[in-house]
Amino acid sequence: MTASTAPGKVYLFGEHAVVYGEPAVPCAIGLRARVTVERRADGLRVQAGDLSLDGFAVEYGATDTTPEVDVSPSLLEAAMSYVNEAVTQAREAAAERGVEAARAAGFEVTVDSEIPLGAGLGSSAAVVVATIDAATRELGVELPREEVADRAYRVERSVQNGEASRADTFCATMGGVVRVEGESCRTLGTPDLPLVVGYDGGAGDTGALVAQVRELRETYPFVGDTVSAIGDVVRRGETALAADDRETLGELMNINHGLLAAVGVSARSLDAMVWAARDAGARGAKLTGAGGGGCIVALGDPDELERALAYVPGCEDAFHAELDTDGLRREER
Ligand code: MEV
Repeated sequence: MTASTAPGKVYLFGEHAVVYGEPAVPCAIGLRARVTVERRADGLRVQAGDLSLDGFAVEYGATDTTPEVDVSPSLLEAAMSYVNEAVTQAREAAAERGVEAARAAGFEVTVDSEIPLGAGLGSSAAVVVATIDAATRELGVELPREEVADRAYRVERSVQNGEASRADTFCATMGGVVRVEGESCRTLGTPDLPLVVGYDGGAGDTGALVAQVRELRETYPFVGDTVSAIGDVVRRGETALAADDRETLGELMNINHGLLAAVGVSARSLDAMVWAARDAGARGAKLTGAGGGGCIVALGDPDELERALAYVPGCEDAFHAELDTDGLRREER
């Protein structure tokens, strides 16, 4: 039996635009997904202790079952596809290294995640990264981190209908604040910013939201300018990060939120939390991740912002998001 964990993340800047080759700067935070993997004769059985669901078990193979859980079928299907594809990548990686039995290997996968599903905190990337790492080690192979990140990206791309960036998966693997632009990924040395997350208890379907932006861009070609403007925000944000210029960082986060709203991925609950954070003195606030529901991230005094967000109708949870610098961790069982 092997176990790996990987962190969730917030986007300081650049989600969605990163899918079109613009840069993005996500930042790993101290919430983790833990994946435990054990070999079994064949097939794949996945159990999830907590994905903001009551817990469920799904068995792939001859007798596929539909679990009874309080979550949209598309979200659950996406969650299961991420695990299924991650296991396929692990089998392939081990087989390429000469592990004969890898392609037919069966697994029991248990997911225990502190990261709410589909809420913009990178739950799927964390689960995928930890699953690939734990499953390959269960097959006797230890992959370099770069390969785990690359294979995790292939999983996201496949589940999101060919549209994904390397941002979530690179960040979950390496930890810290990272910069991703197309194929180029690196970690940034940056200050530990006071960030607060507000969570509305909801979720968005990343694949569907990415497709929605694509459609809008096709219908209205000038939406491409909005996407490019997000890229400009990120480039300016990098300079502000390097200088630890929090006033500019906050302003840029606000602009980034407005641009994301313009491409249709905000939600009433996200806007309400963003405004409450700003009213409580946040230097800046924006939605994080794919949007549609889920989380915002605000820069400012954590105590003040947590208190203010707690009063927003529809805010289910608010917490100080501390920077995670470990990324993928190989855990004791
Ligand atoms: C989702 O966490 C971030 C998106 O930019 C999609 C991606 O980068 O793959 C919306």
